[in-house]
Amino acid sequence: MNRVLKEIPENDPLMIAEQKAMIEQAIAENRERPGAVMLVLNQVQTEIGHVSPSMQAYIARKLNVPLGQVHGVVTFYSFFKTQPRGKHTIKFCLGTACYVAGVPQLVEKAKQMLNIELGQTTPDGQITLEECRCVGACSQAPVVVVNEEVQGKVRPNKFPQILRKVQQ
Ligand code: FES
Repeated sequence: MNRVLKEIPENDPLMIAEQKAMIEQAIAENRERPGAVMLVLNQVQTEIGHVSPSMQAYIARKLNVPLGQVHGVVTFYSFFKTQPRGKHTIKFCLGTACYVAGVPQLVEKAKQMLNIELGQTTPDGQITLEECRCVGACSQAPVVVVNEEVQGKVRPNKFPQILRKVQQ
């Protein structure tokens, strides 16, 4: 835990006064309440948008609980993100219909073009790639959700076009 807190990246919210104050406030408001870990993480995720490894270690120390407990909650619920999300999000439906219709090939294409993995954000902070569950548009499989807009029947050769539109 200490090592993570000794090497906090300079763009981490813990290094930004205003965001650190938000984290402190979430801890102060919830520390005596039952389920404090979940409450603090929830508030921090909502207000800051992610809970980095350093933030997890900091929260664990301040709440006096093992880091594993905080980490366990963060990794169990997909609501929690450990990295900041990009300006745009492209989600790939991993539901059965989309999977069968070729989402894995689409994911490969996206990873190749952007040079990042699912769950990661491009270094310029523009695009985050994520997976999602069935969005109820199975007849349109394979489906991607670009900034909340569902797009169906997306073939890998159409992906560059989607990317160009997002990057405009
Ligand atoms: S499986 Fe993808 S929309 Fe239903």
